[in-house]
Amino acid sequence: MILSDDRPNPLRDPQDRRLPRIAGPCVLVIFGVTGDLATKKLMPAVYDLANRGLLPPGFALVGFARRDWEDQDFAQIVHAAVKEHARTPFREEVWKQLSEGIRFVSGEIGDDESFSRLKSTIADLDEARGTGGNHAFYLSIPPSLFPTVVGQLRDHGFAEEQQGRWSRVVIEKPFGHDLASARELNQVVSSVFPSSSVFRIDHYLGKETVQNMMALRFANQLFEPVWNNNYVDHVQITMAEDIGIGGRAGYFDGIGIARDVIQNHLLQLLALTAMEEPTSFDARQLRAEKQKILAAVRPPKRMDLHTARGRYVGGWQGGEKVVGYLEEKGIPADTKTETYAAIRVDIDNRRWAGVPFYLRTGKRLARRVTEIALGFKRAPHLPFTATDTEELGYNALVLRIQPDEGVTLRFGAKVPGTQMEIREVNMDFAYGGSFTESSPEAYERLILDVLLGDPPLFPQHEEVELSWQILDPILDFWAASDERPSDYDAGSWGPRSADEMIARDGFTWRRP
Ligand code: BG6
Repeated sequence: MILSDDRPNPLRDPQDRRLPRIAGPCVLVIFGVTGDLATKKLMPAVYDLANRGLLPPGFALVGFARRDWEDQDFAQIVHAAVKEHARTPFREEVWKQLSEGIRFVSGEIGDDESFSRLKSTIADLDEARGTGGNHAFYLSIPPSLFPTVVGQLRDHGFAEEQQGRWSRVVIEKPFGHDLASARELNQVVSSVFPSSSVFRIDHYLGKETVQNMMALRFANQLFEPVWNNNYVDHVQITMAEDIGIGGRAGYFDGIGIARDVIQNHLLQLLALTAMEEPTSFDARQLRAEKQKILAAVRPPKRMDLHTARGRYVGGWQGGEKVVGYLEEKGIPADTKTETYAAIRVDIDNRRWAGVPFYLRTGKRLARRVTEIALGFKRAPHLPFTATDTEELGYNALVLRIQPDEGVTLRFGAKVPGTQMEIREVNMDFAYGGSFTESSPEAYERLILDVLLGDPPLFPQHEEVELSWQILDPILDFWAASDERPSDYDAGSWGPRSADEMIARDGFTWRRP
């Protein structure tokens, strides 16, 4: 491109987002490579990034686990994971280049010797691949092991940032079990790594449709005027899953669904729905707005009326016979753990006062769907005879996060005919219909951002604390109750108690 001297060359502007965001040379170390997350999400995402040309030739991947594997064994595991789970097509030349930088360290996290071996493996890679001494450590392991690993990283000199090199640590939720344990965990991590080097993963923030919430709200003039309590009368945030707990009994039964996804994914969705416009998408500004809104969230006033929890019992789902939660392998008979939770919260600020936000989530529900629905107040006057509008519900704007990514606007329209009859219709935007490119997986985006050191999509400790402050009183109420979670049939939309909860306020749950 030829430009006269006085015109800025957009290709040289570092802020120009049209430039591809490519990571620099570095080593990514994954602890817990034998786990489900690593196999289904992390390793495929690394390959997809490589396939999209977003990883440099100097990239290296190190797996650390107890298995007695050699480098080639691990490379084969990565290969199988990529073949089965990668989003983009398999290309031999991409794999060849990636596999040259794959290493495995067999070891115990409590063992000094193992970390010395890790250190020399990384040093060799730094040398051979020209990584510039940049390292990211991904802790895909239970939080109870974080202190040991973080301590080892400190003792082996991995946390020291030297001139021109970086060292980052990536931690997966759950960030603690409650407010107190989250604080302890944070203390452990922050005593070793500065907060700018800690990347907390909430994979919902990596989803394209979740980022689209910001585009929809802040790139358009159309929605802002109605995005408040003058027009919205309630908000429903749903994360429904059709799967059960799979092989994760040990993890899931210890925490339940509220800790598993409300504390993080659902409250993050609430924050993005309700926050004020940040002055920029700079991490500091965005986090400040999310913190402000989370601090304004008031937990339910009446726990007995504004919360509901349930547990699936066996039945039929999608033509398949499935077992109930109590029959899942590894679940103790006297468990009180919930697999469904619904709560109502309010937001104490000018924009949202008087607008209830209903959050619900569950396993083994009728279908997999995540959406945010803003329900609008009814028109103050309807100049029709009552029978004309019998089938008219409330207007709604629905942000469809998955699986049918898009946005729906629901409103009333005249049914063709000689009479005035009004019925609800949908106006749809579908990602698939408007864009030819398929959306990257959340983990592709988040791993790339870690390697680039780009922090806006990673919640900070303050947000984690505020979320626990909202959830803790609910969890305490449930823990103190003698009641067990109410039963609901697999394949249904959850327990009756949740329908009753929302009906008390004069609303009904959407059936997406
Ligand atoms: C995880 C939860 O964070 O999110 C799982 O631990 C849940 O229980 C999963 O199944 C759902 O993620 P997604 O991206 O499939 O909606």
